[in-house]
Amino acid sequence: MSKVLVTGGAGYIGSHTCVELLNAGHDVVVLDNLSNSSKEALNRVQTLTAKSVDFVEGDILDEVVLDQIFQNHQIDAVIHFAGLKAVGESQKIPLKYFENNISGSISLVQAMERANVFNLVFSSSATVYDEANISPLNEDMPTGMPSNNYGYTKLIVEQLLEKLAQADERWSIALLRYFNPVGAHKSGLMGEDPQGIPNNLMPYVTQVAVGRREKLSIFGNDYDTVDGTGVRDYIHVVDLANAHLCALNNRLNAQGCRAWNIGTGNGCSVLEIKNTFERVNGIEIPFEFAPRREGDVATSFANNARAVQELGWTAKFGLEDMLADSWNWQKQNPNGYRD
Ligand code: NAD
Ligand code: UFG
Repeated sequence: MSKVLVTGGAGYIGSHTCVELLNAGHDVVVLDNLSNSSKEALNRVQTLTAKSVDFVEGDILDEVVLDQIFQNHQIDAVIHFAGLKAVGESQKIPLKYFENNISGSISLVQAMERANVFNLVFSSSATVYDEANISPLNEDMPTGMPSNNYGYTKLIVEQLLEKLAQADERWSIALLRYFNPVGAHKSGLMGEDPQGIPNNLMPYVTQVAVGRREKLSIFGNDYDTVDGTGVRDYIHVVDLANAHLCALNNRLNAQGCRAWNIGTGNGCSVLEIKNTFERVNGIEIPFEFAPRREGDVATSFANNARAVQELGWTAKFGLEDMLADSWNWQKQNPNGYRD
């Protein structure tokens, strides 16, 4: 069993990954500055697993804090979730995104090198693929310039990690290209808790369902898709969390830098999400069609064969589970962790 440093471990995907790590018998140290999360998420991780998490409130840009963590703990591997992720905000304050996501990642790998820790799993995104690629997207397809600064930071960090592993064979790095994480822990104790108005579809839908928002705006109904609305590959957050354990396993005995898509391989439209949510949960979601959102592509879904074959990972949950679990979390926690 390993001791894993989880940066951003109090966040949505990080907290779910902590549960899976602890349940699998790993020890977990979380470093999070709580800029987009709450310590309550980690309390719930501990409740669910009956295990303790070593929590350090601090920033990945702070090398003193990082060195202290590596001195105080015998860390075997790092899963790096910490970062800012709001696409719209990244267009308004790019430097904040460059500093946090790019400089922060450099600061982290420098501290890892000082501590002789060379196993890393990085949260990347399907947004790194060139928009001209036709789905299903596979890892051999070219990357391209993302349409926003958030996506740009993911591309840059991927590239610098690749170059690092090429230059120094001690590194073993997994780039996990997430498609669209949704859903929540089955218990309803943990889930996605965005601050302010949600940017993403699923938390918007659940906030409409719980009465915090009036209606869903569907961005575009004239795409060349099954019903004119955008098609994405939604992946249950617990399946995504487990992909990190598979990647850790793979990387502990490997060398170099490699990318894996983490998606179900199924494309699903916005209208299908709305309609399935209504059917599964018995709640109506009022909606309107609105203009397309700038930067959106019509269709994006994964070819996940590489993750299945090389990591031994499969997605266990289907769309109905994702939508039932998202709602279960939201209805038990109408105001997220701030109750
Ligand atoms: P999140 O905001 O819930 O989690 C990120 C965590 O990192 C938060 O707890 C935040 O407080 C922390 N953090 C941010 N900057 C930090 C810093 N400088 N030092 C320490 N902690 C810091 O987001 P999430 O949805 O859990 O995403 C996790 C990772 O996955 C991010 O890197 C994100 O870009 C990436 N990702 C997310 C999605 C998605 O749709 N959710 C898709 C693709 C990739
Ligand atoms: N959508 C709506 N209304 C909303 C929100 C979204 O119709 O209120 C639509 C979008 O137009 C899109 C789909 O729902 O067709 C999914 O949108 P999200 O914002 O939930 O997700 P994106 O696919 O735009 O982006 C997500 C992550 C990014 C990541 C990207 C990779 O948020 O971090 O996937 O493909 F980079």
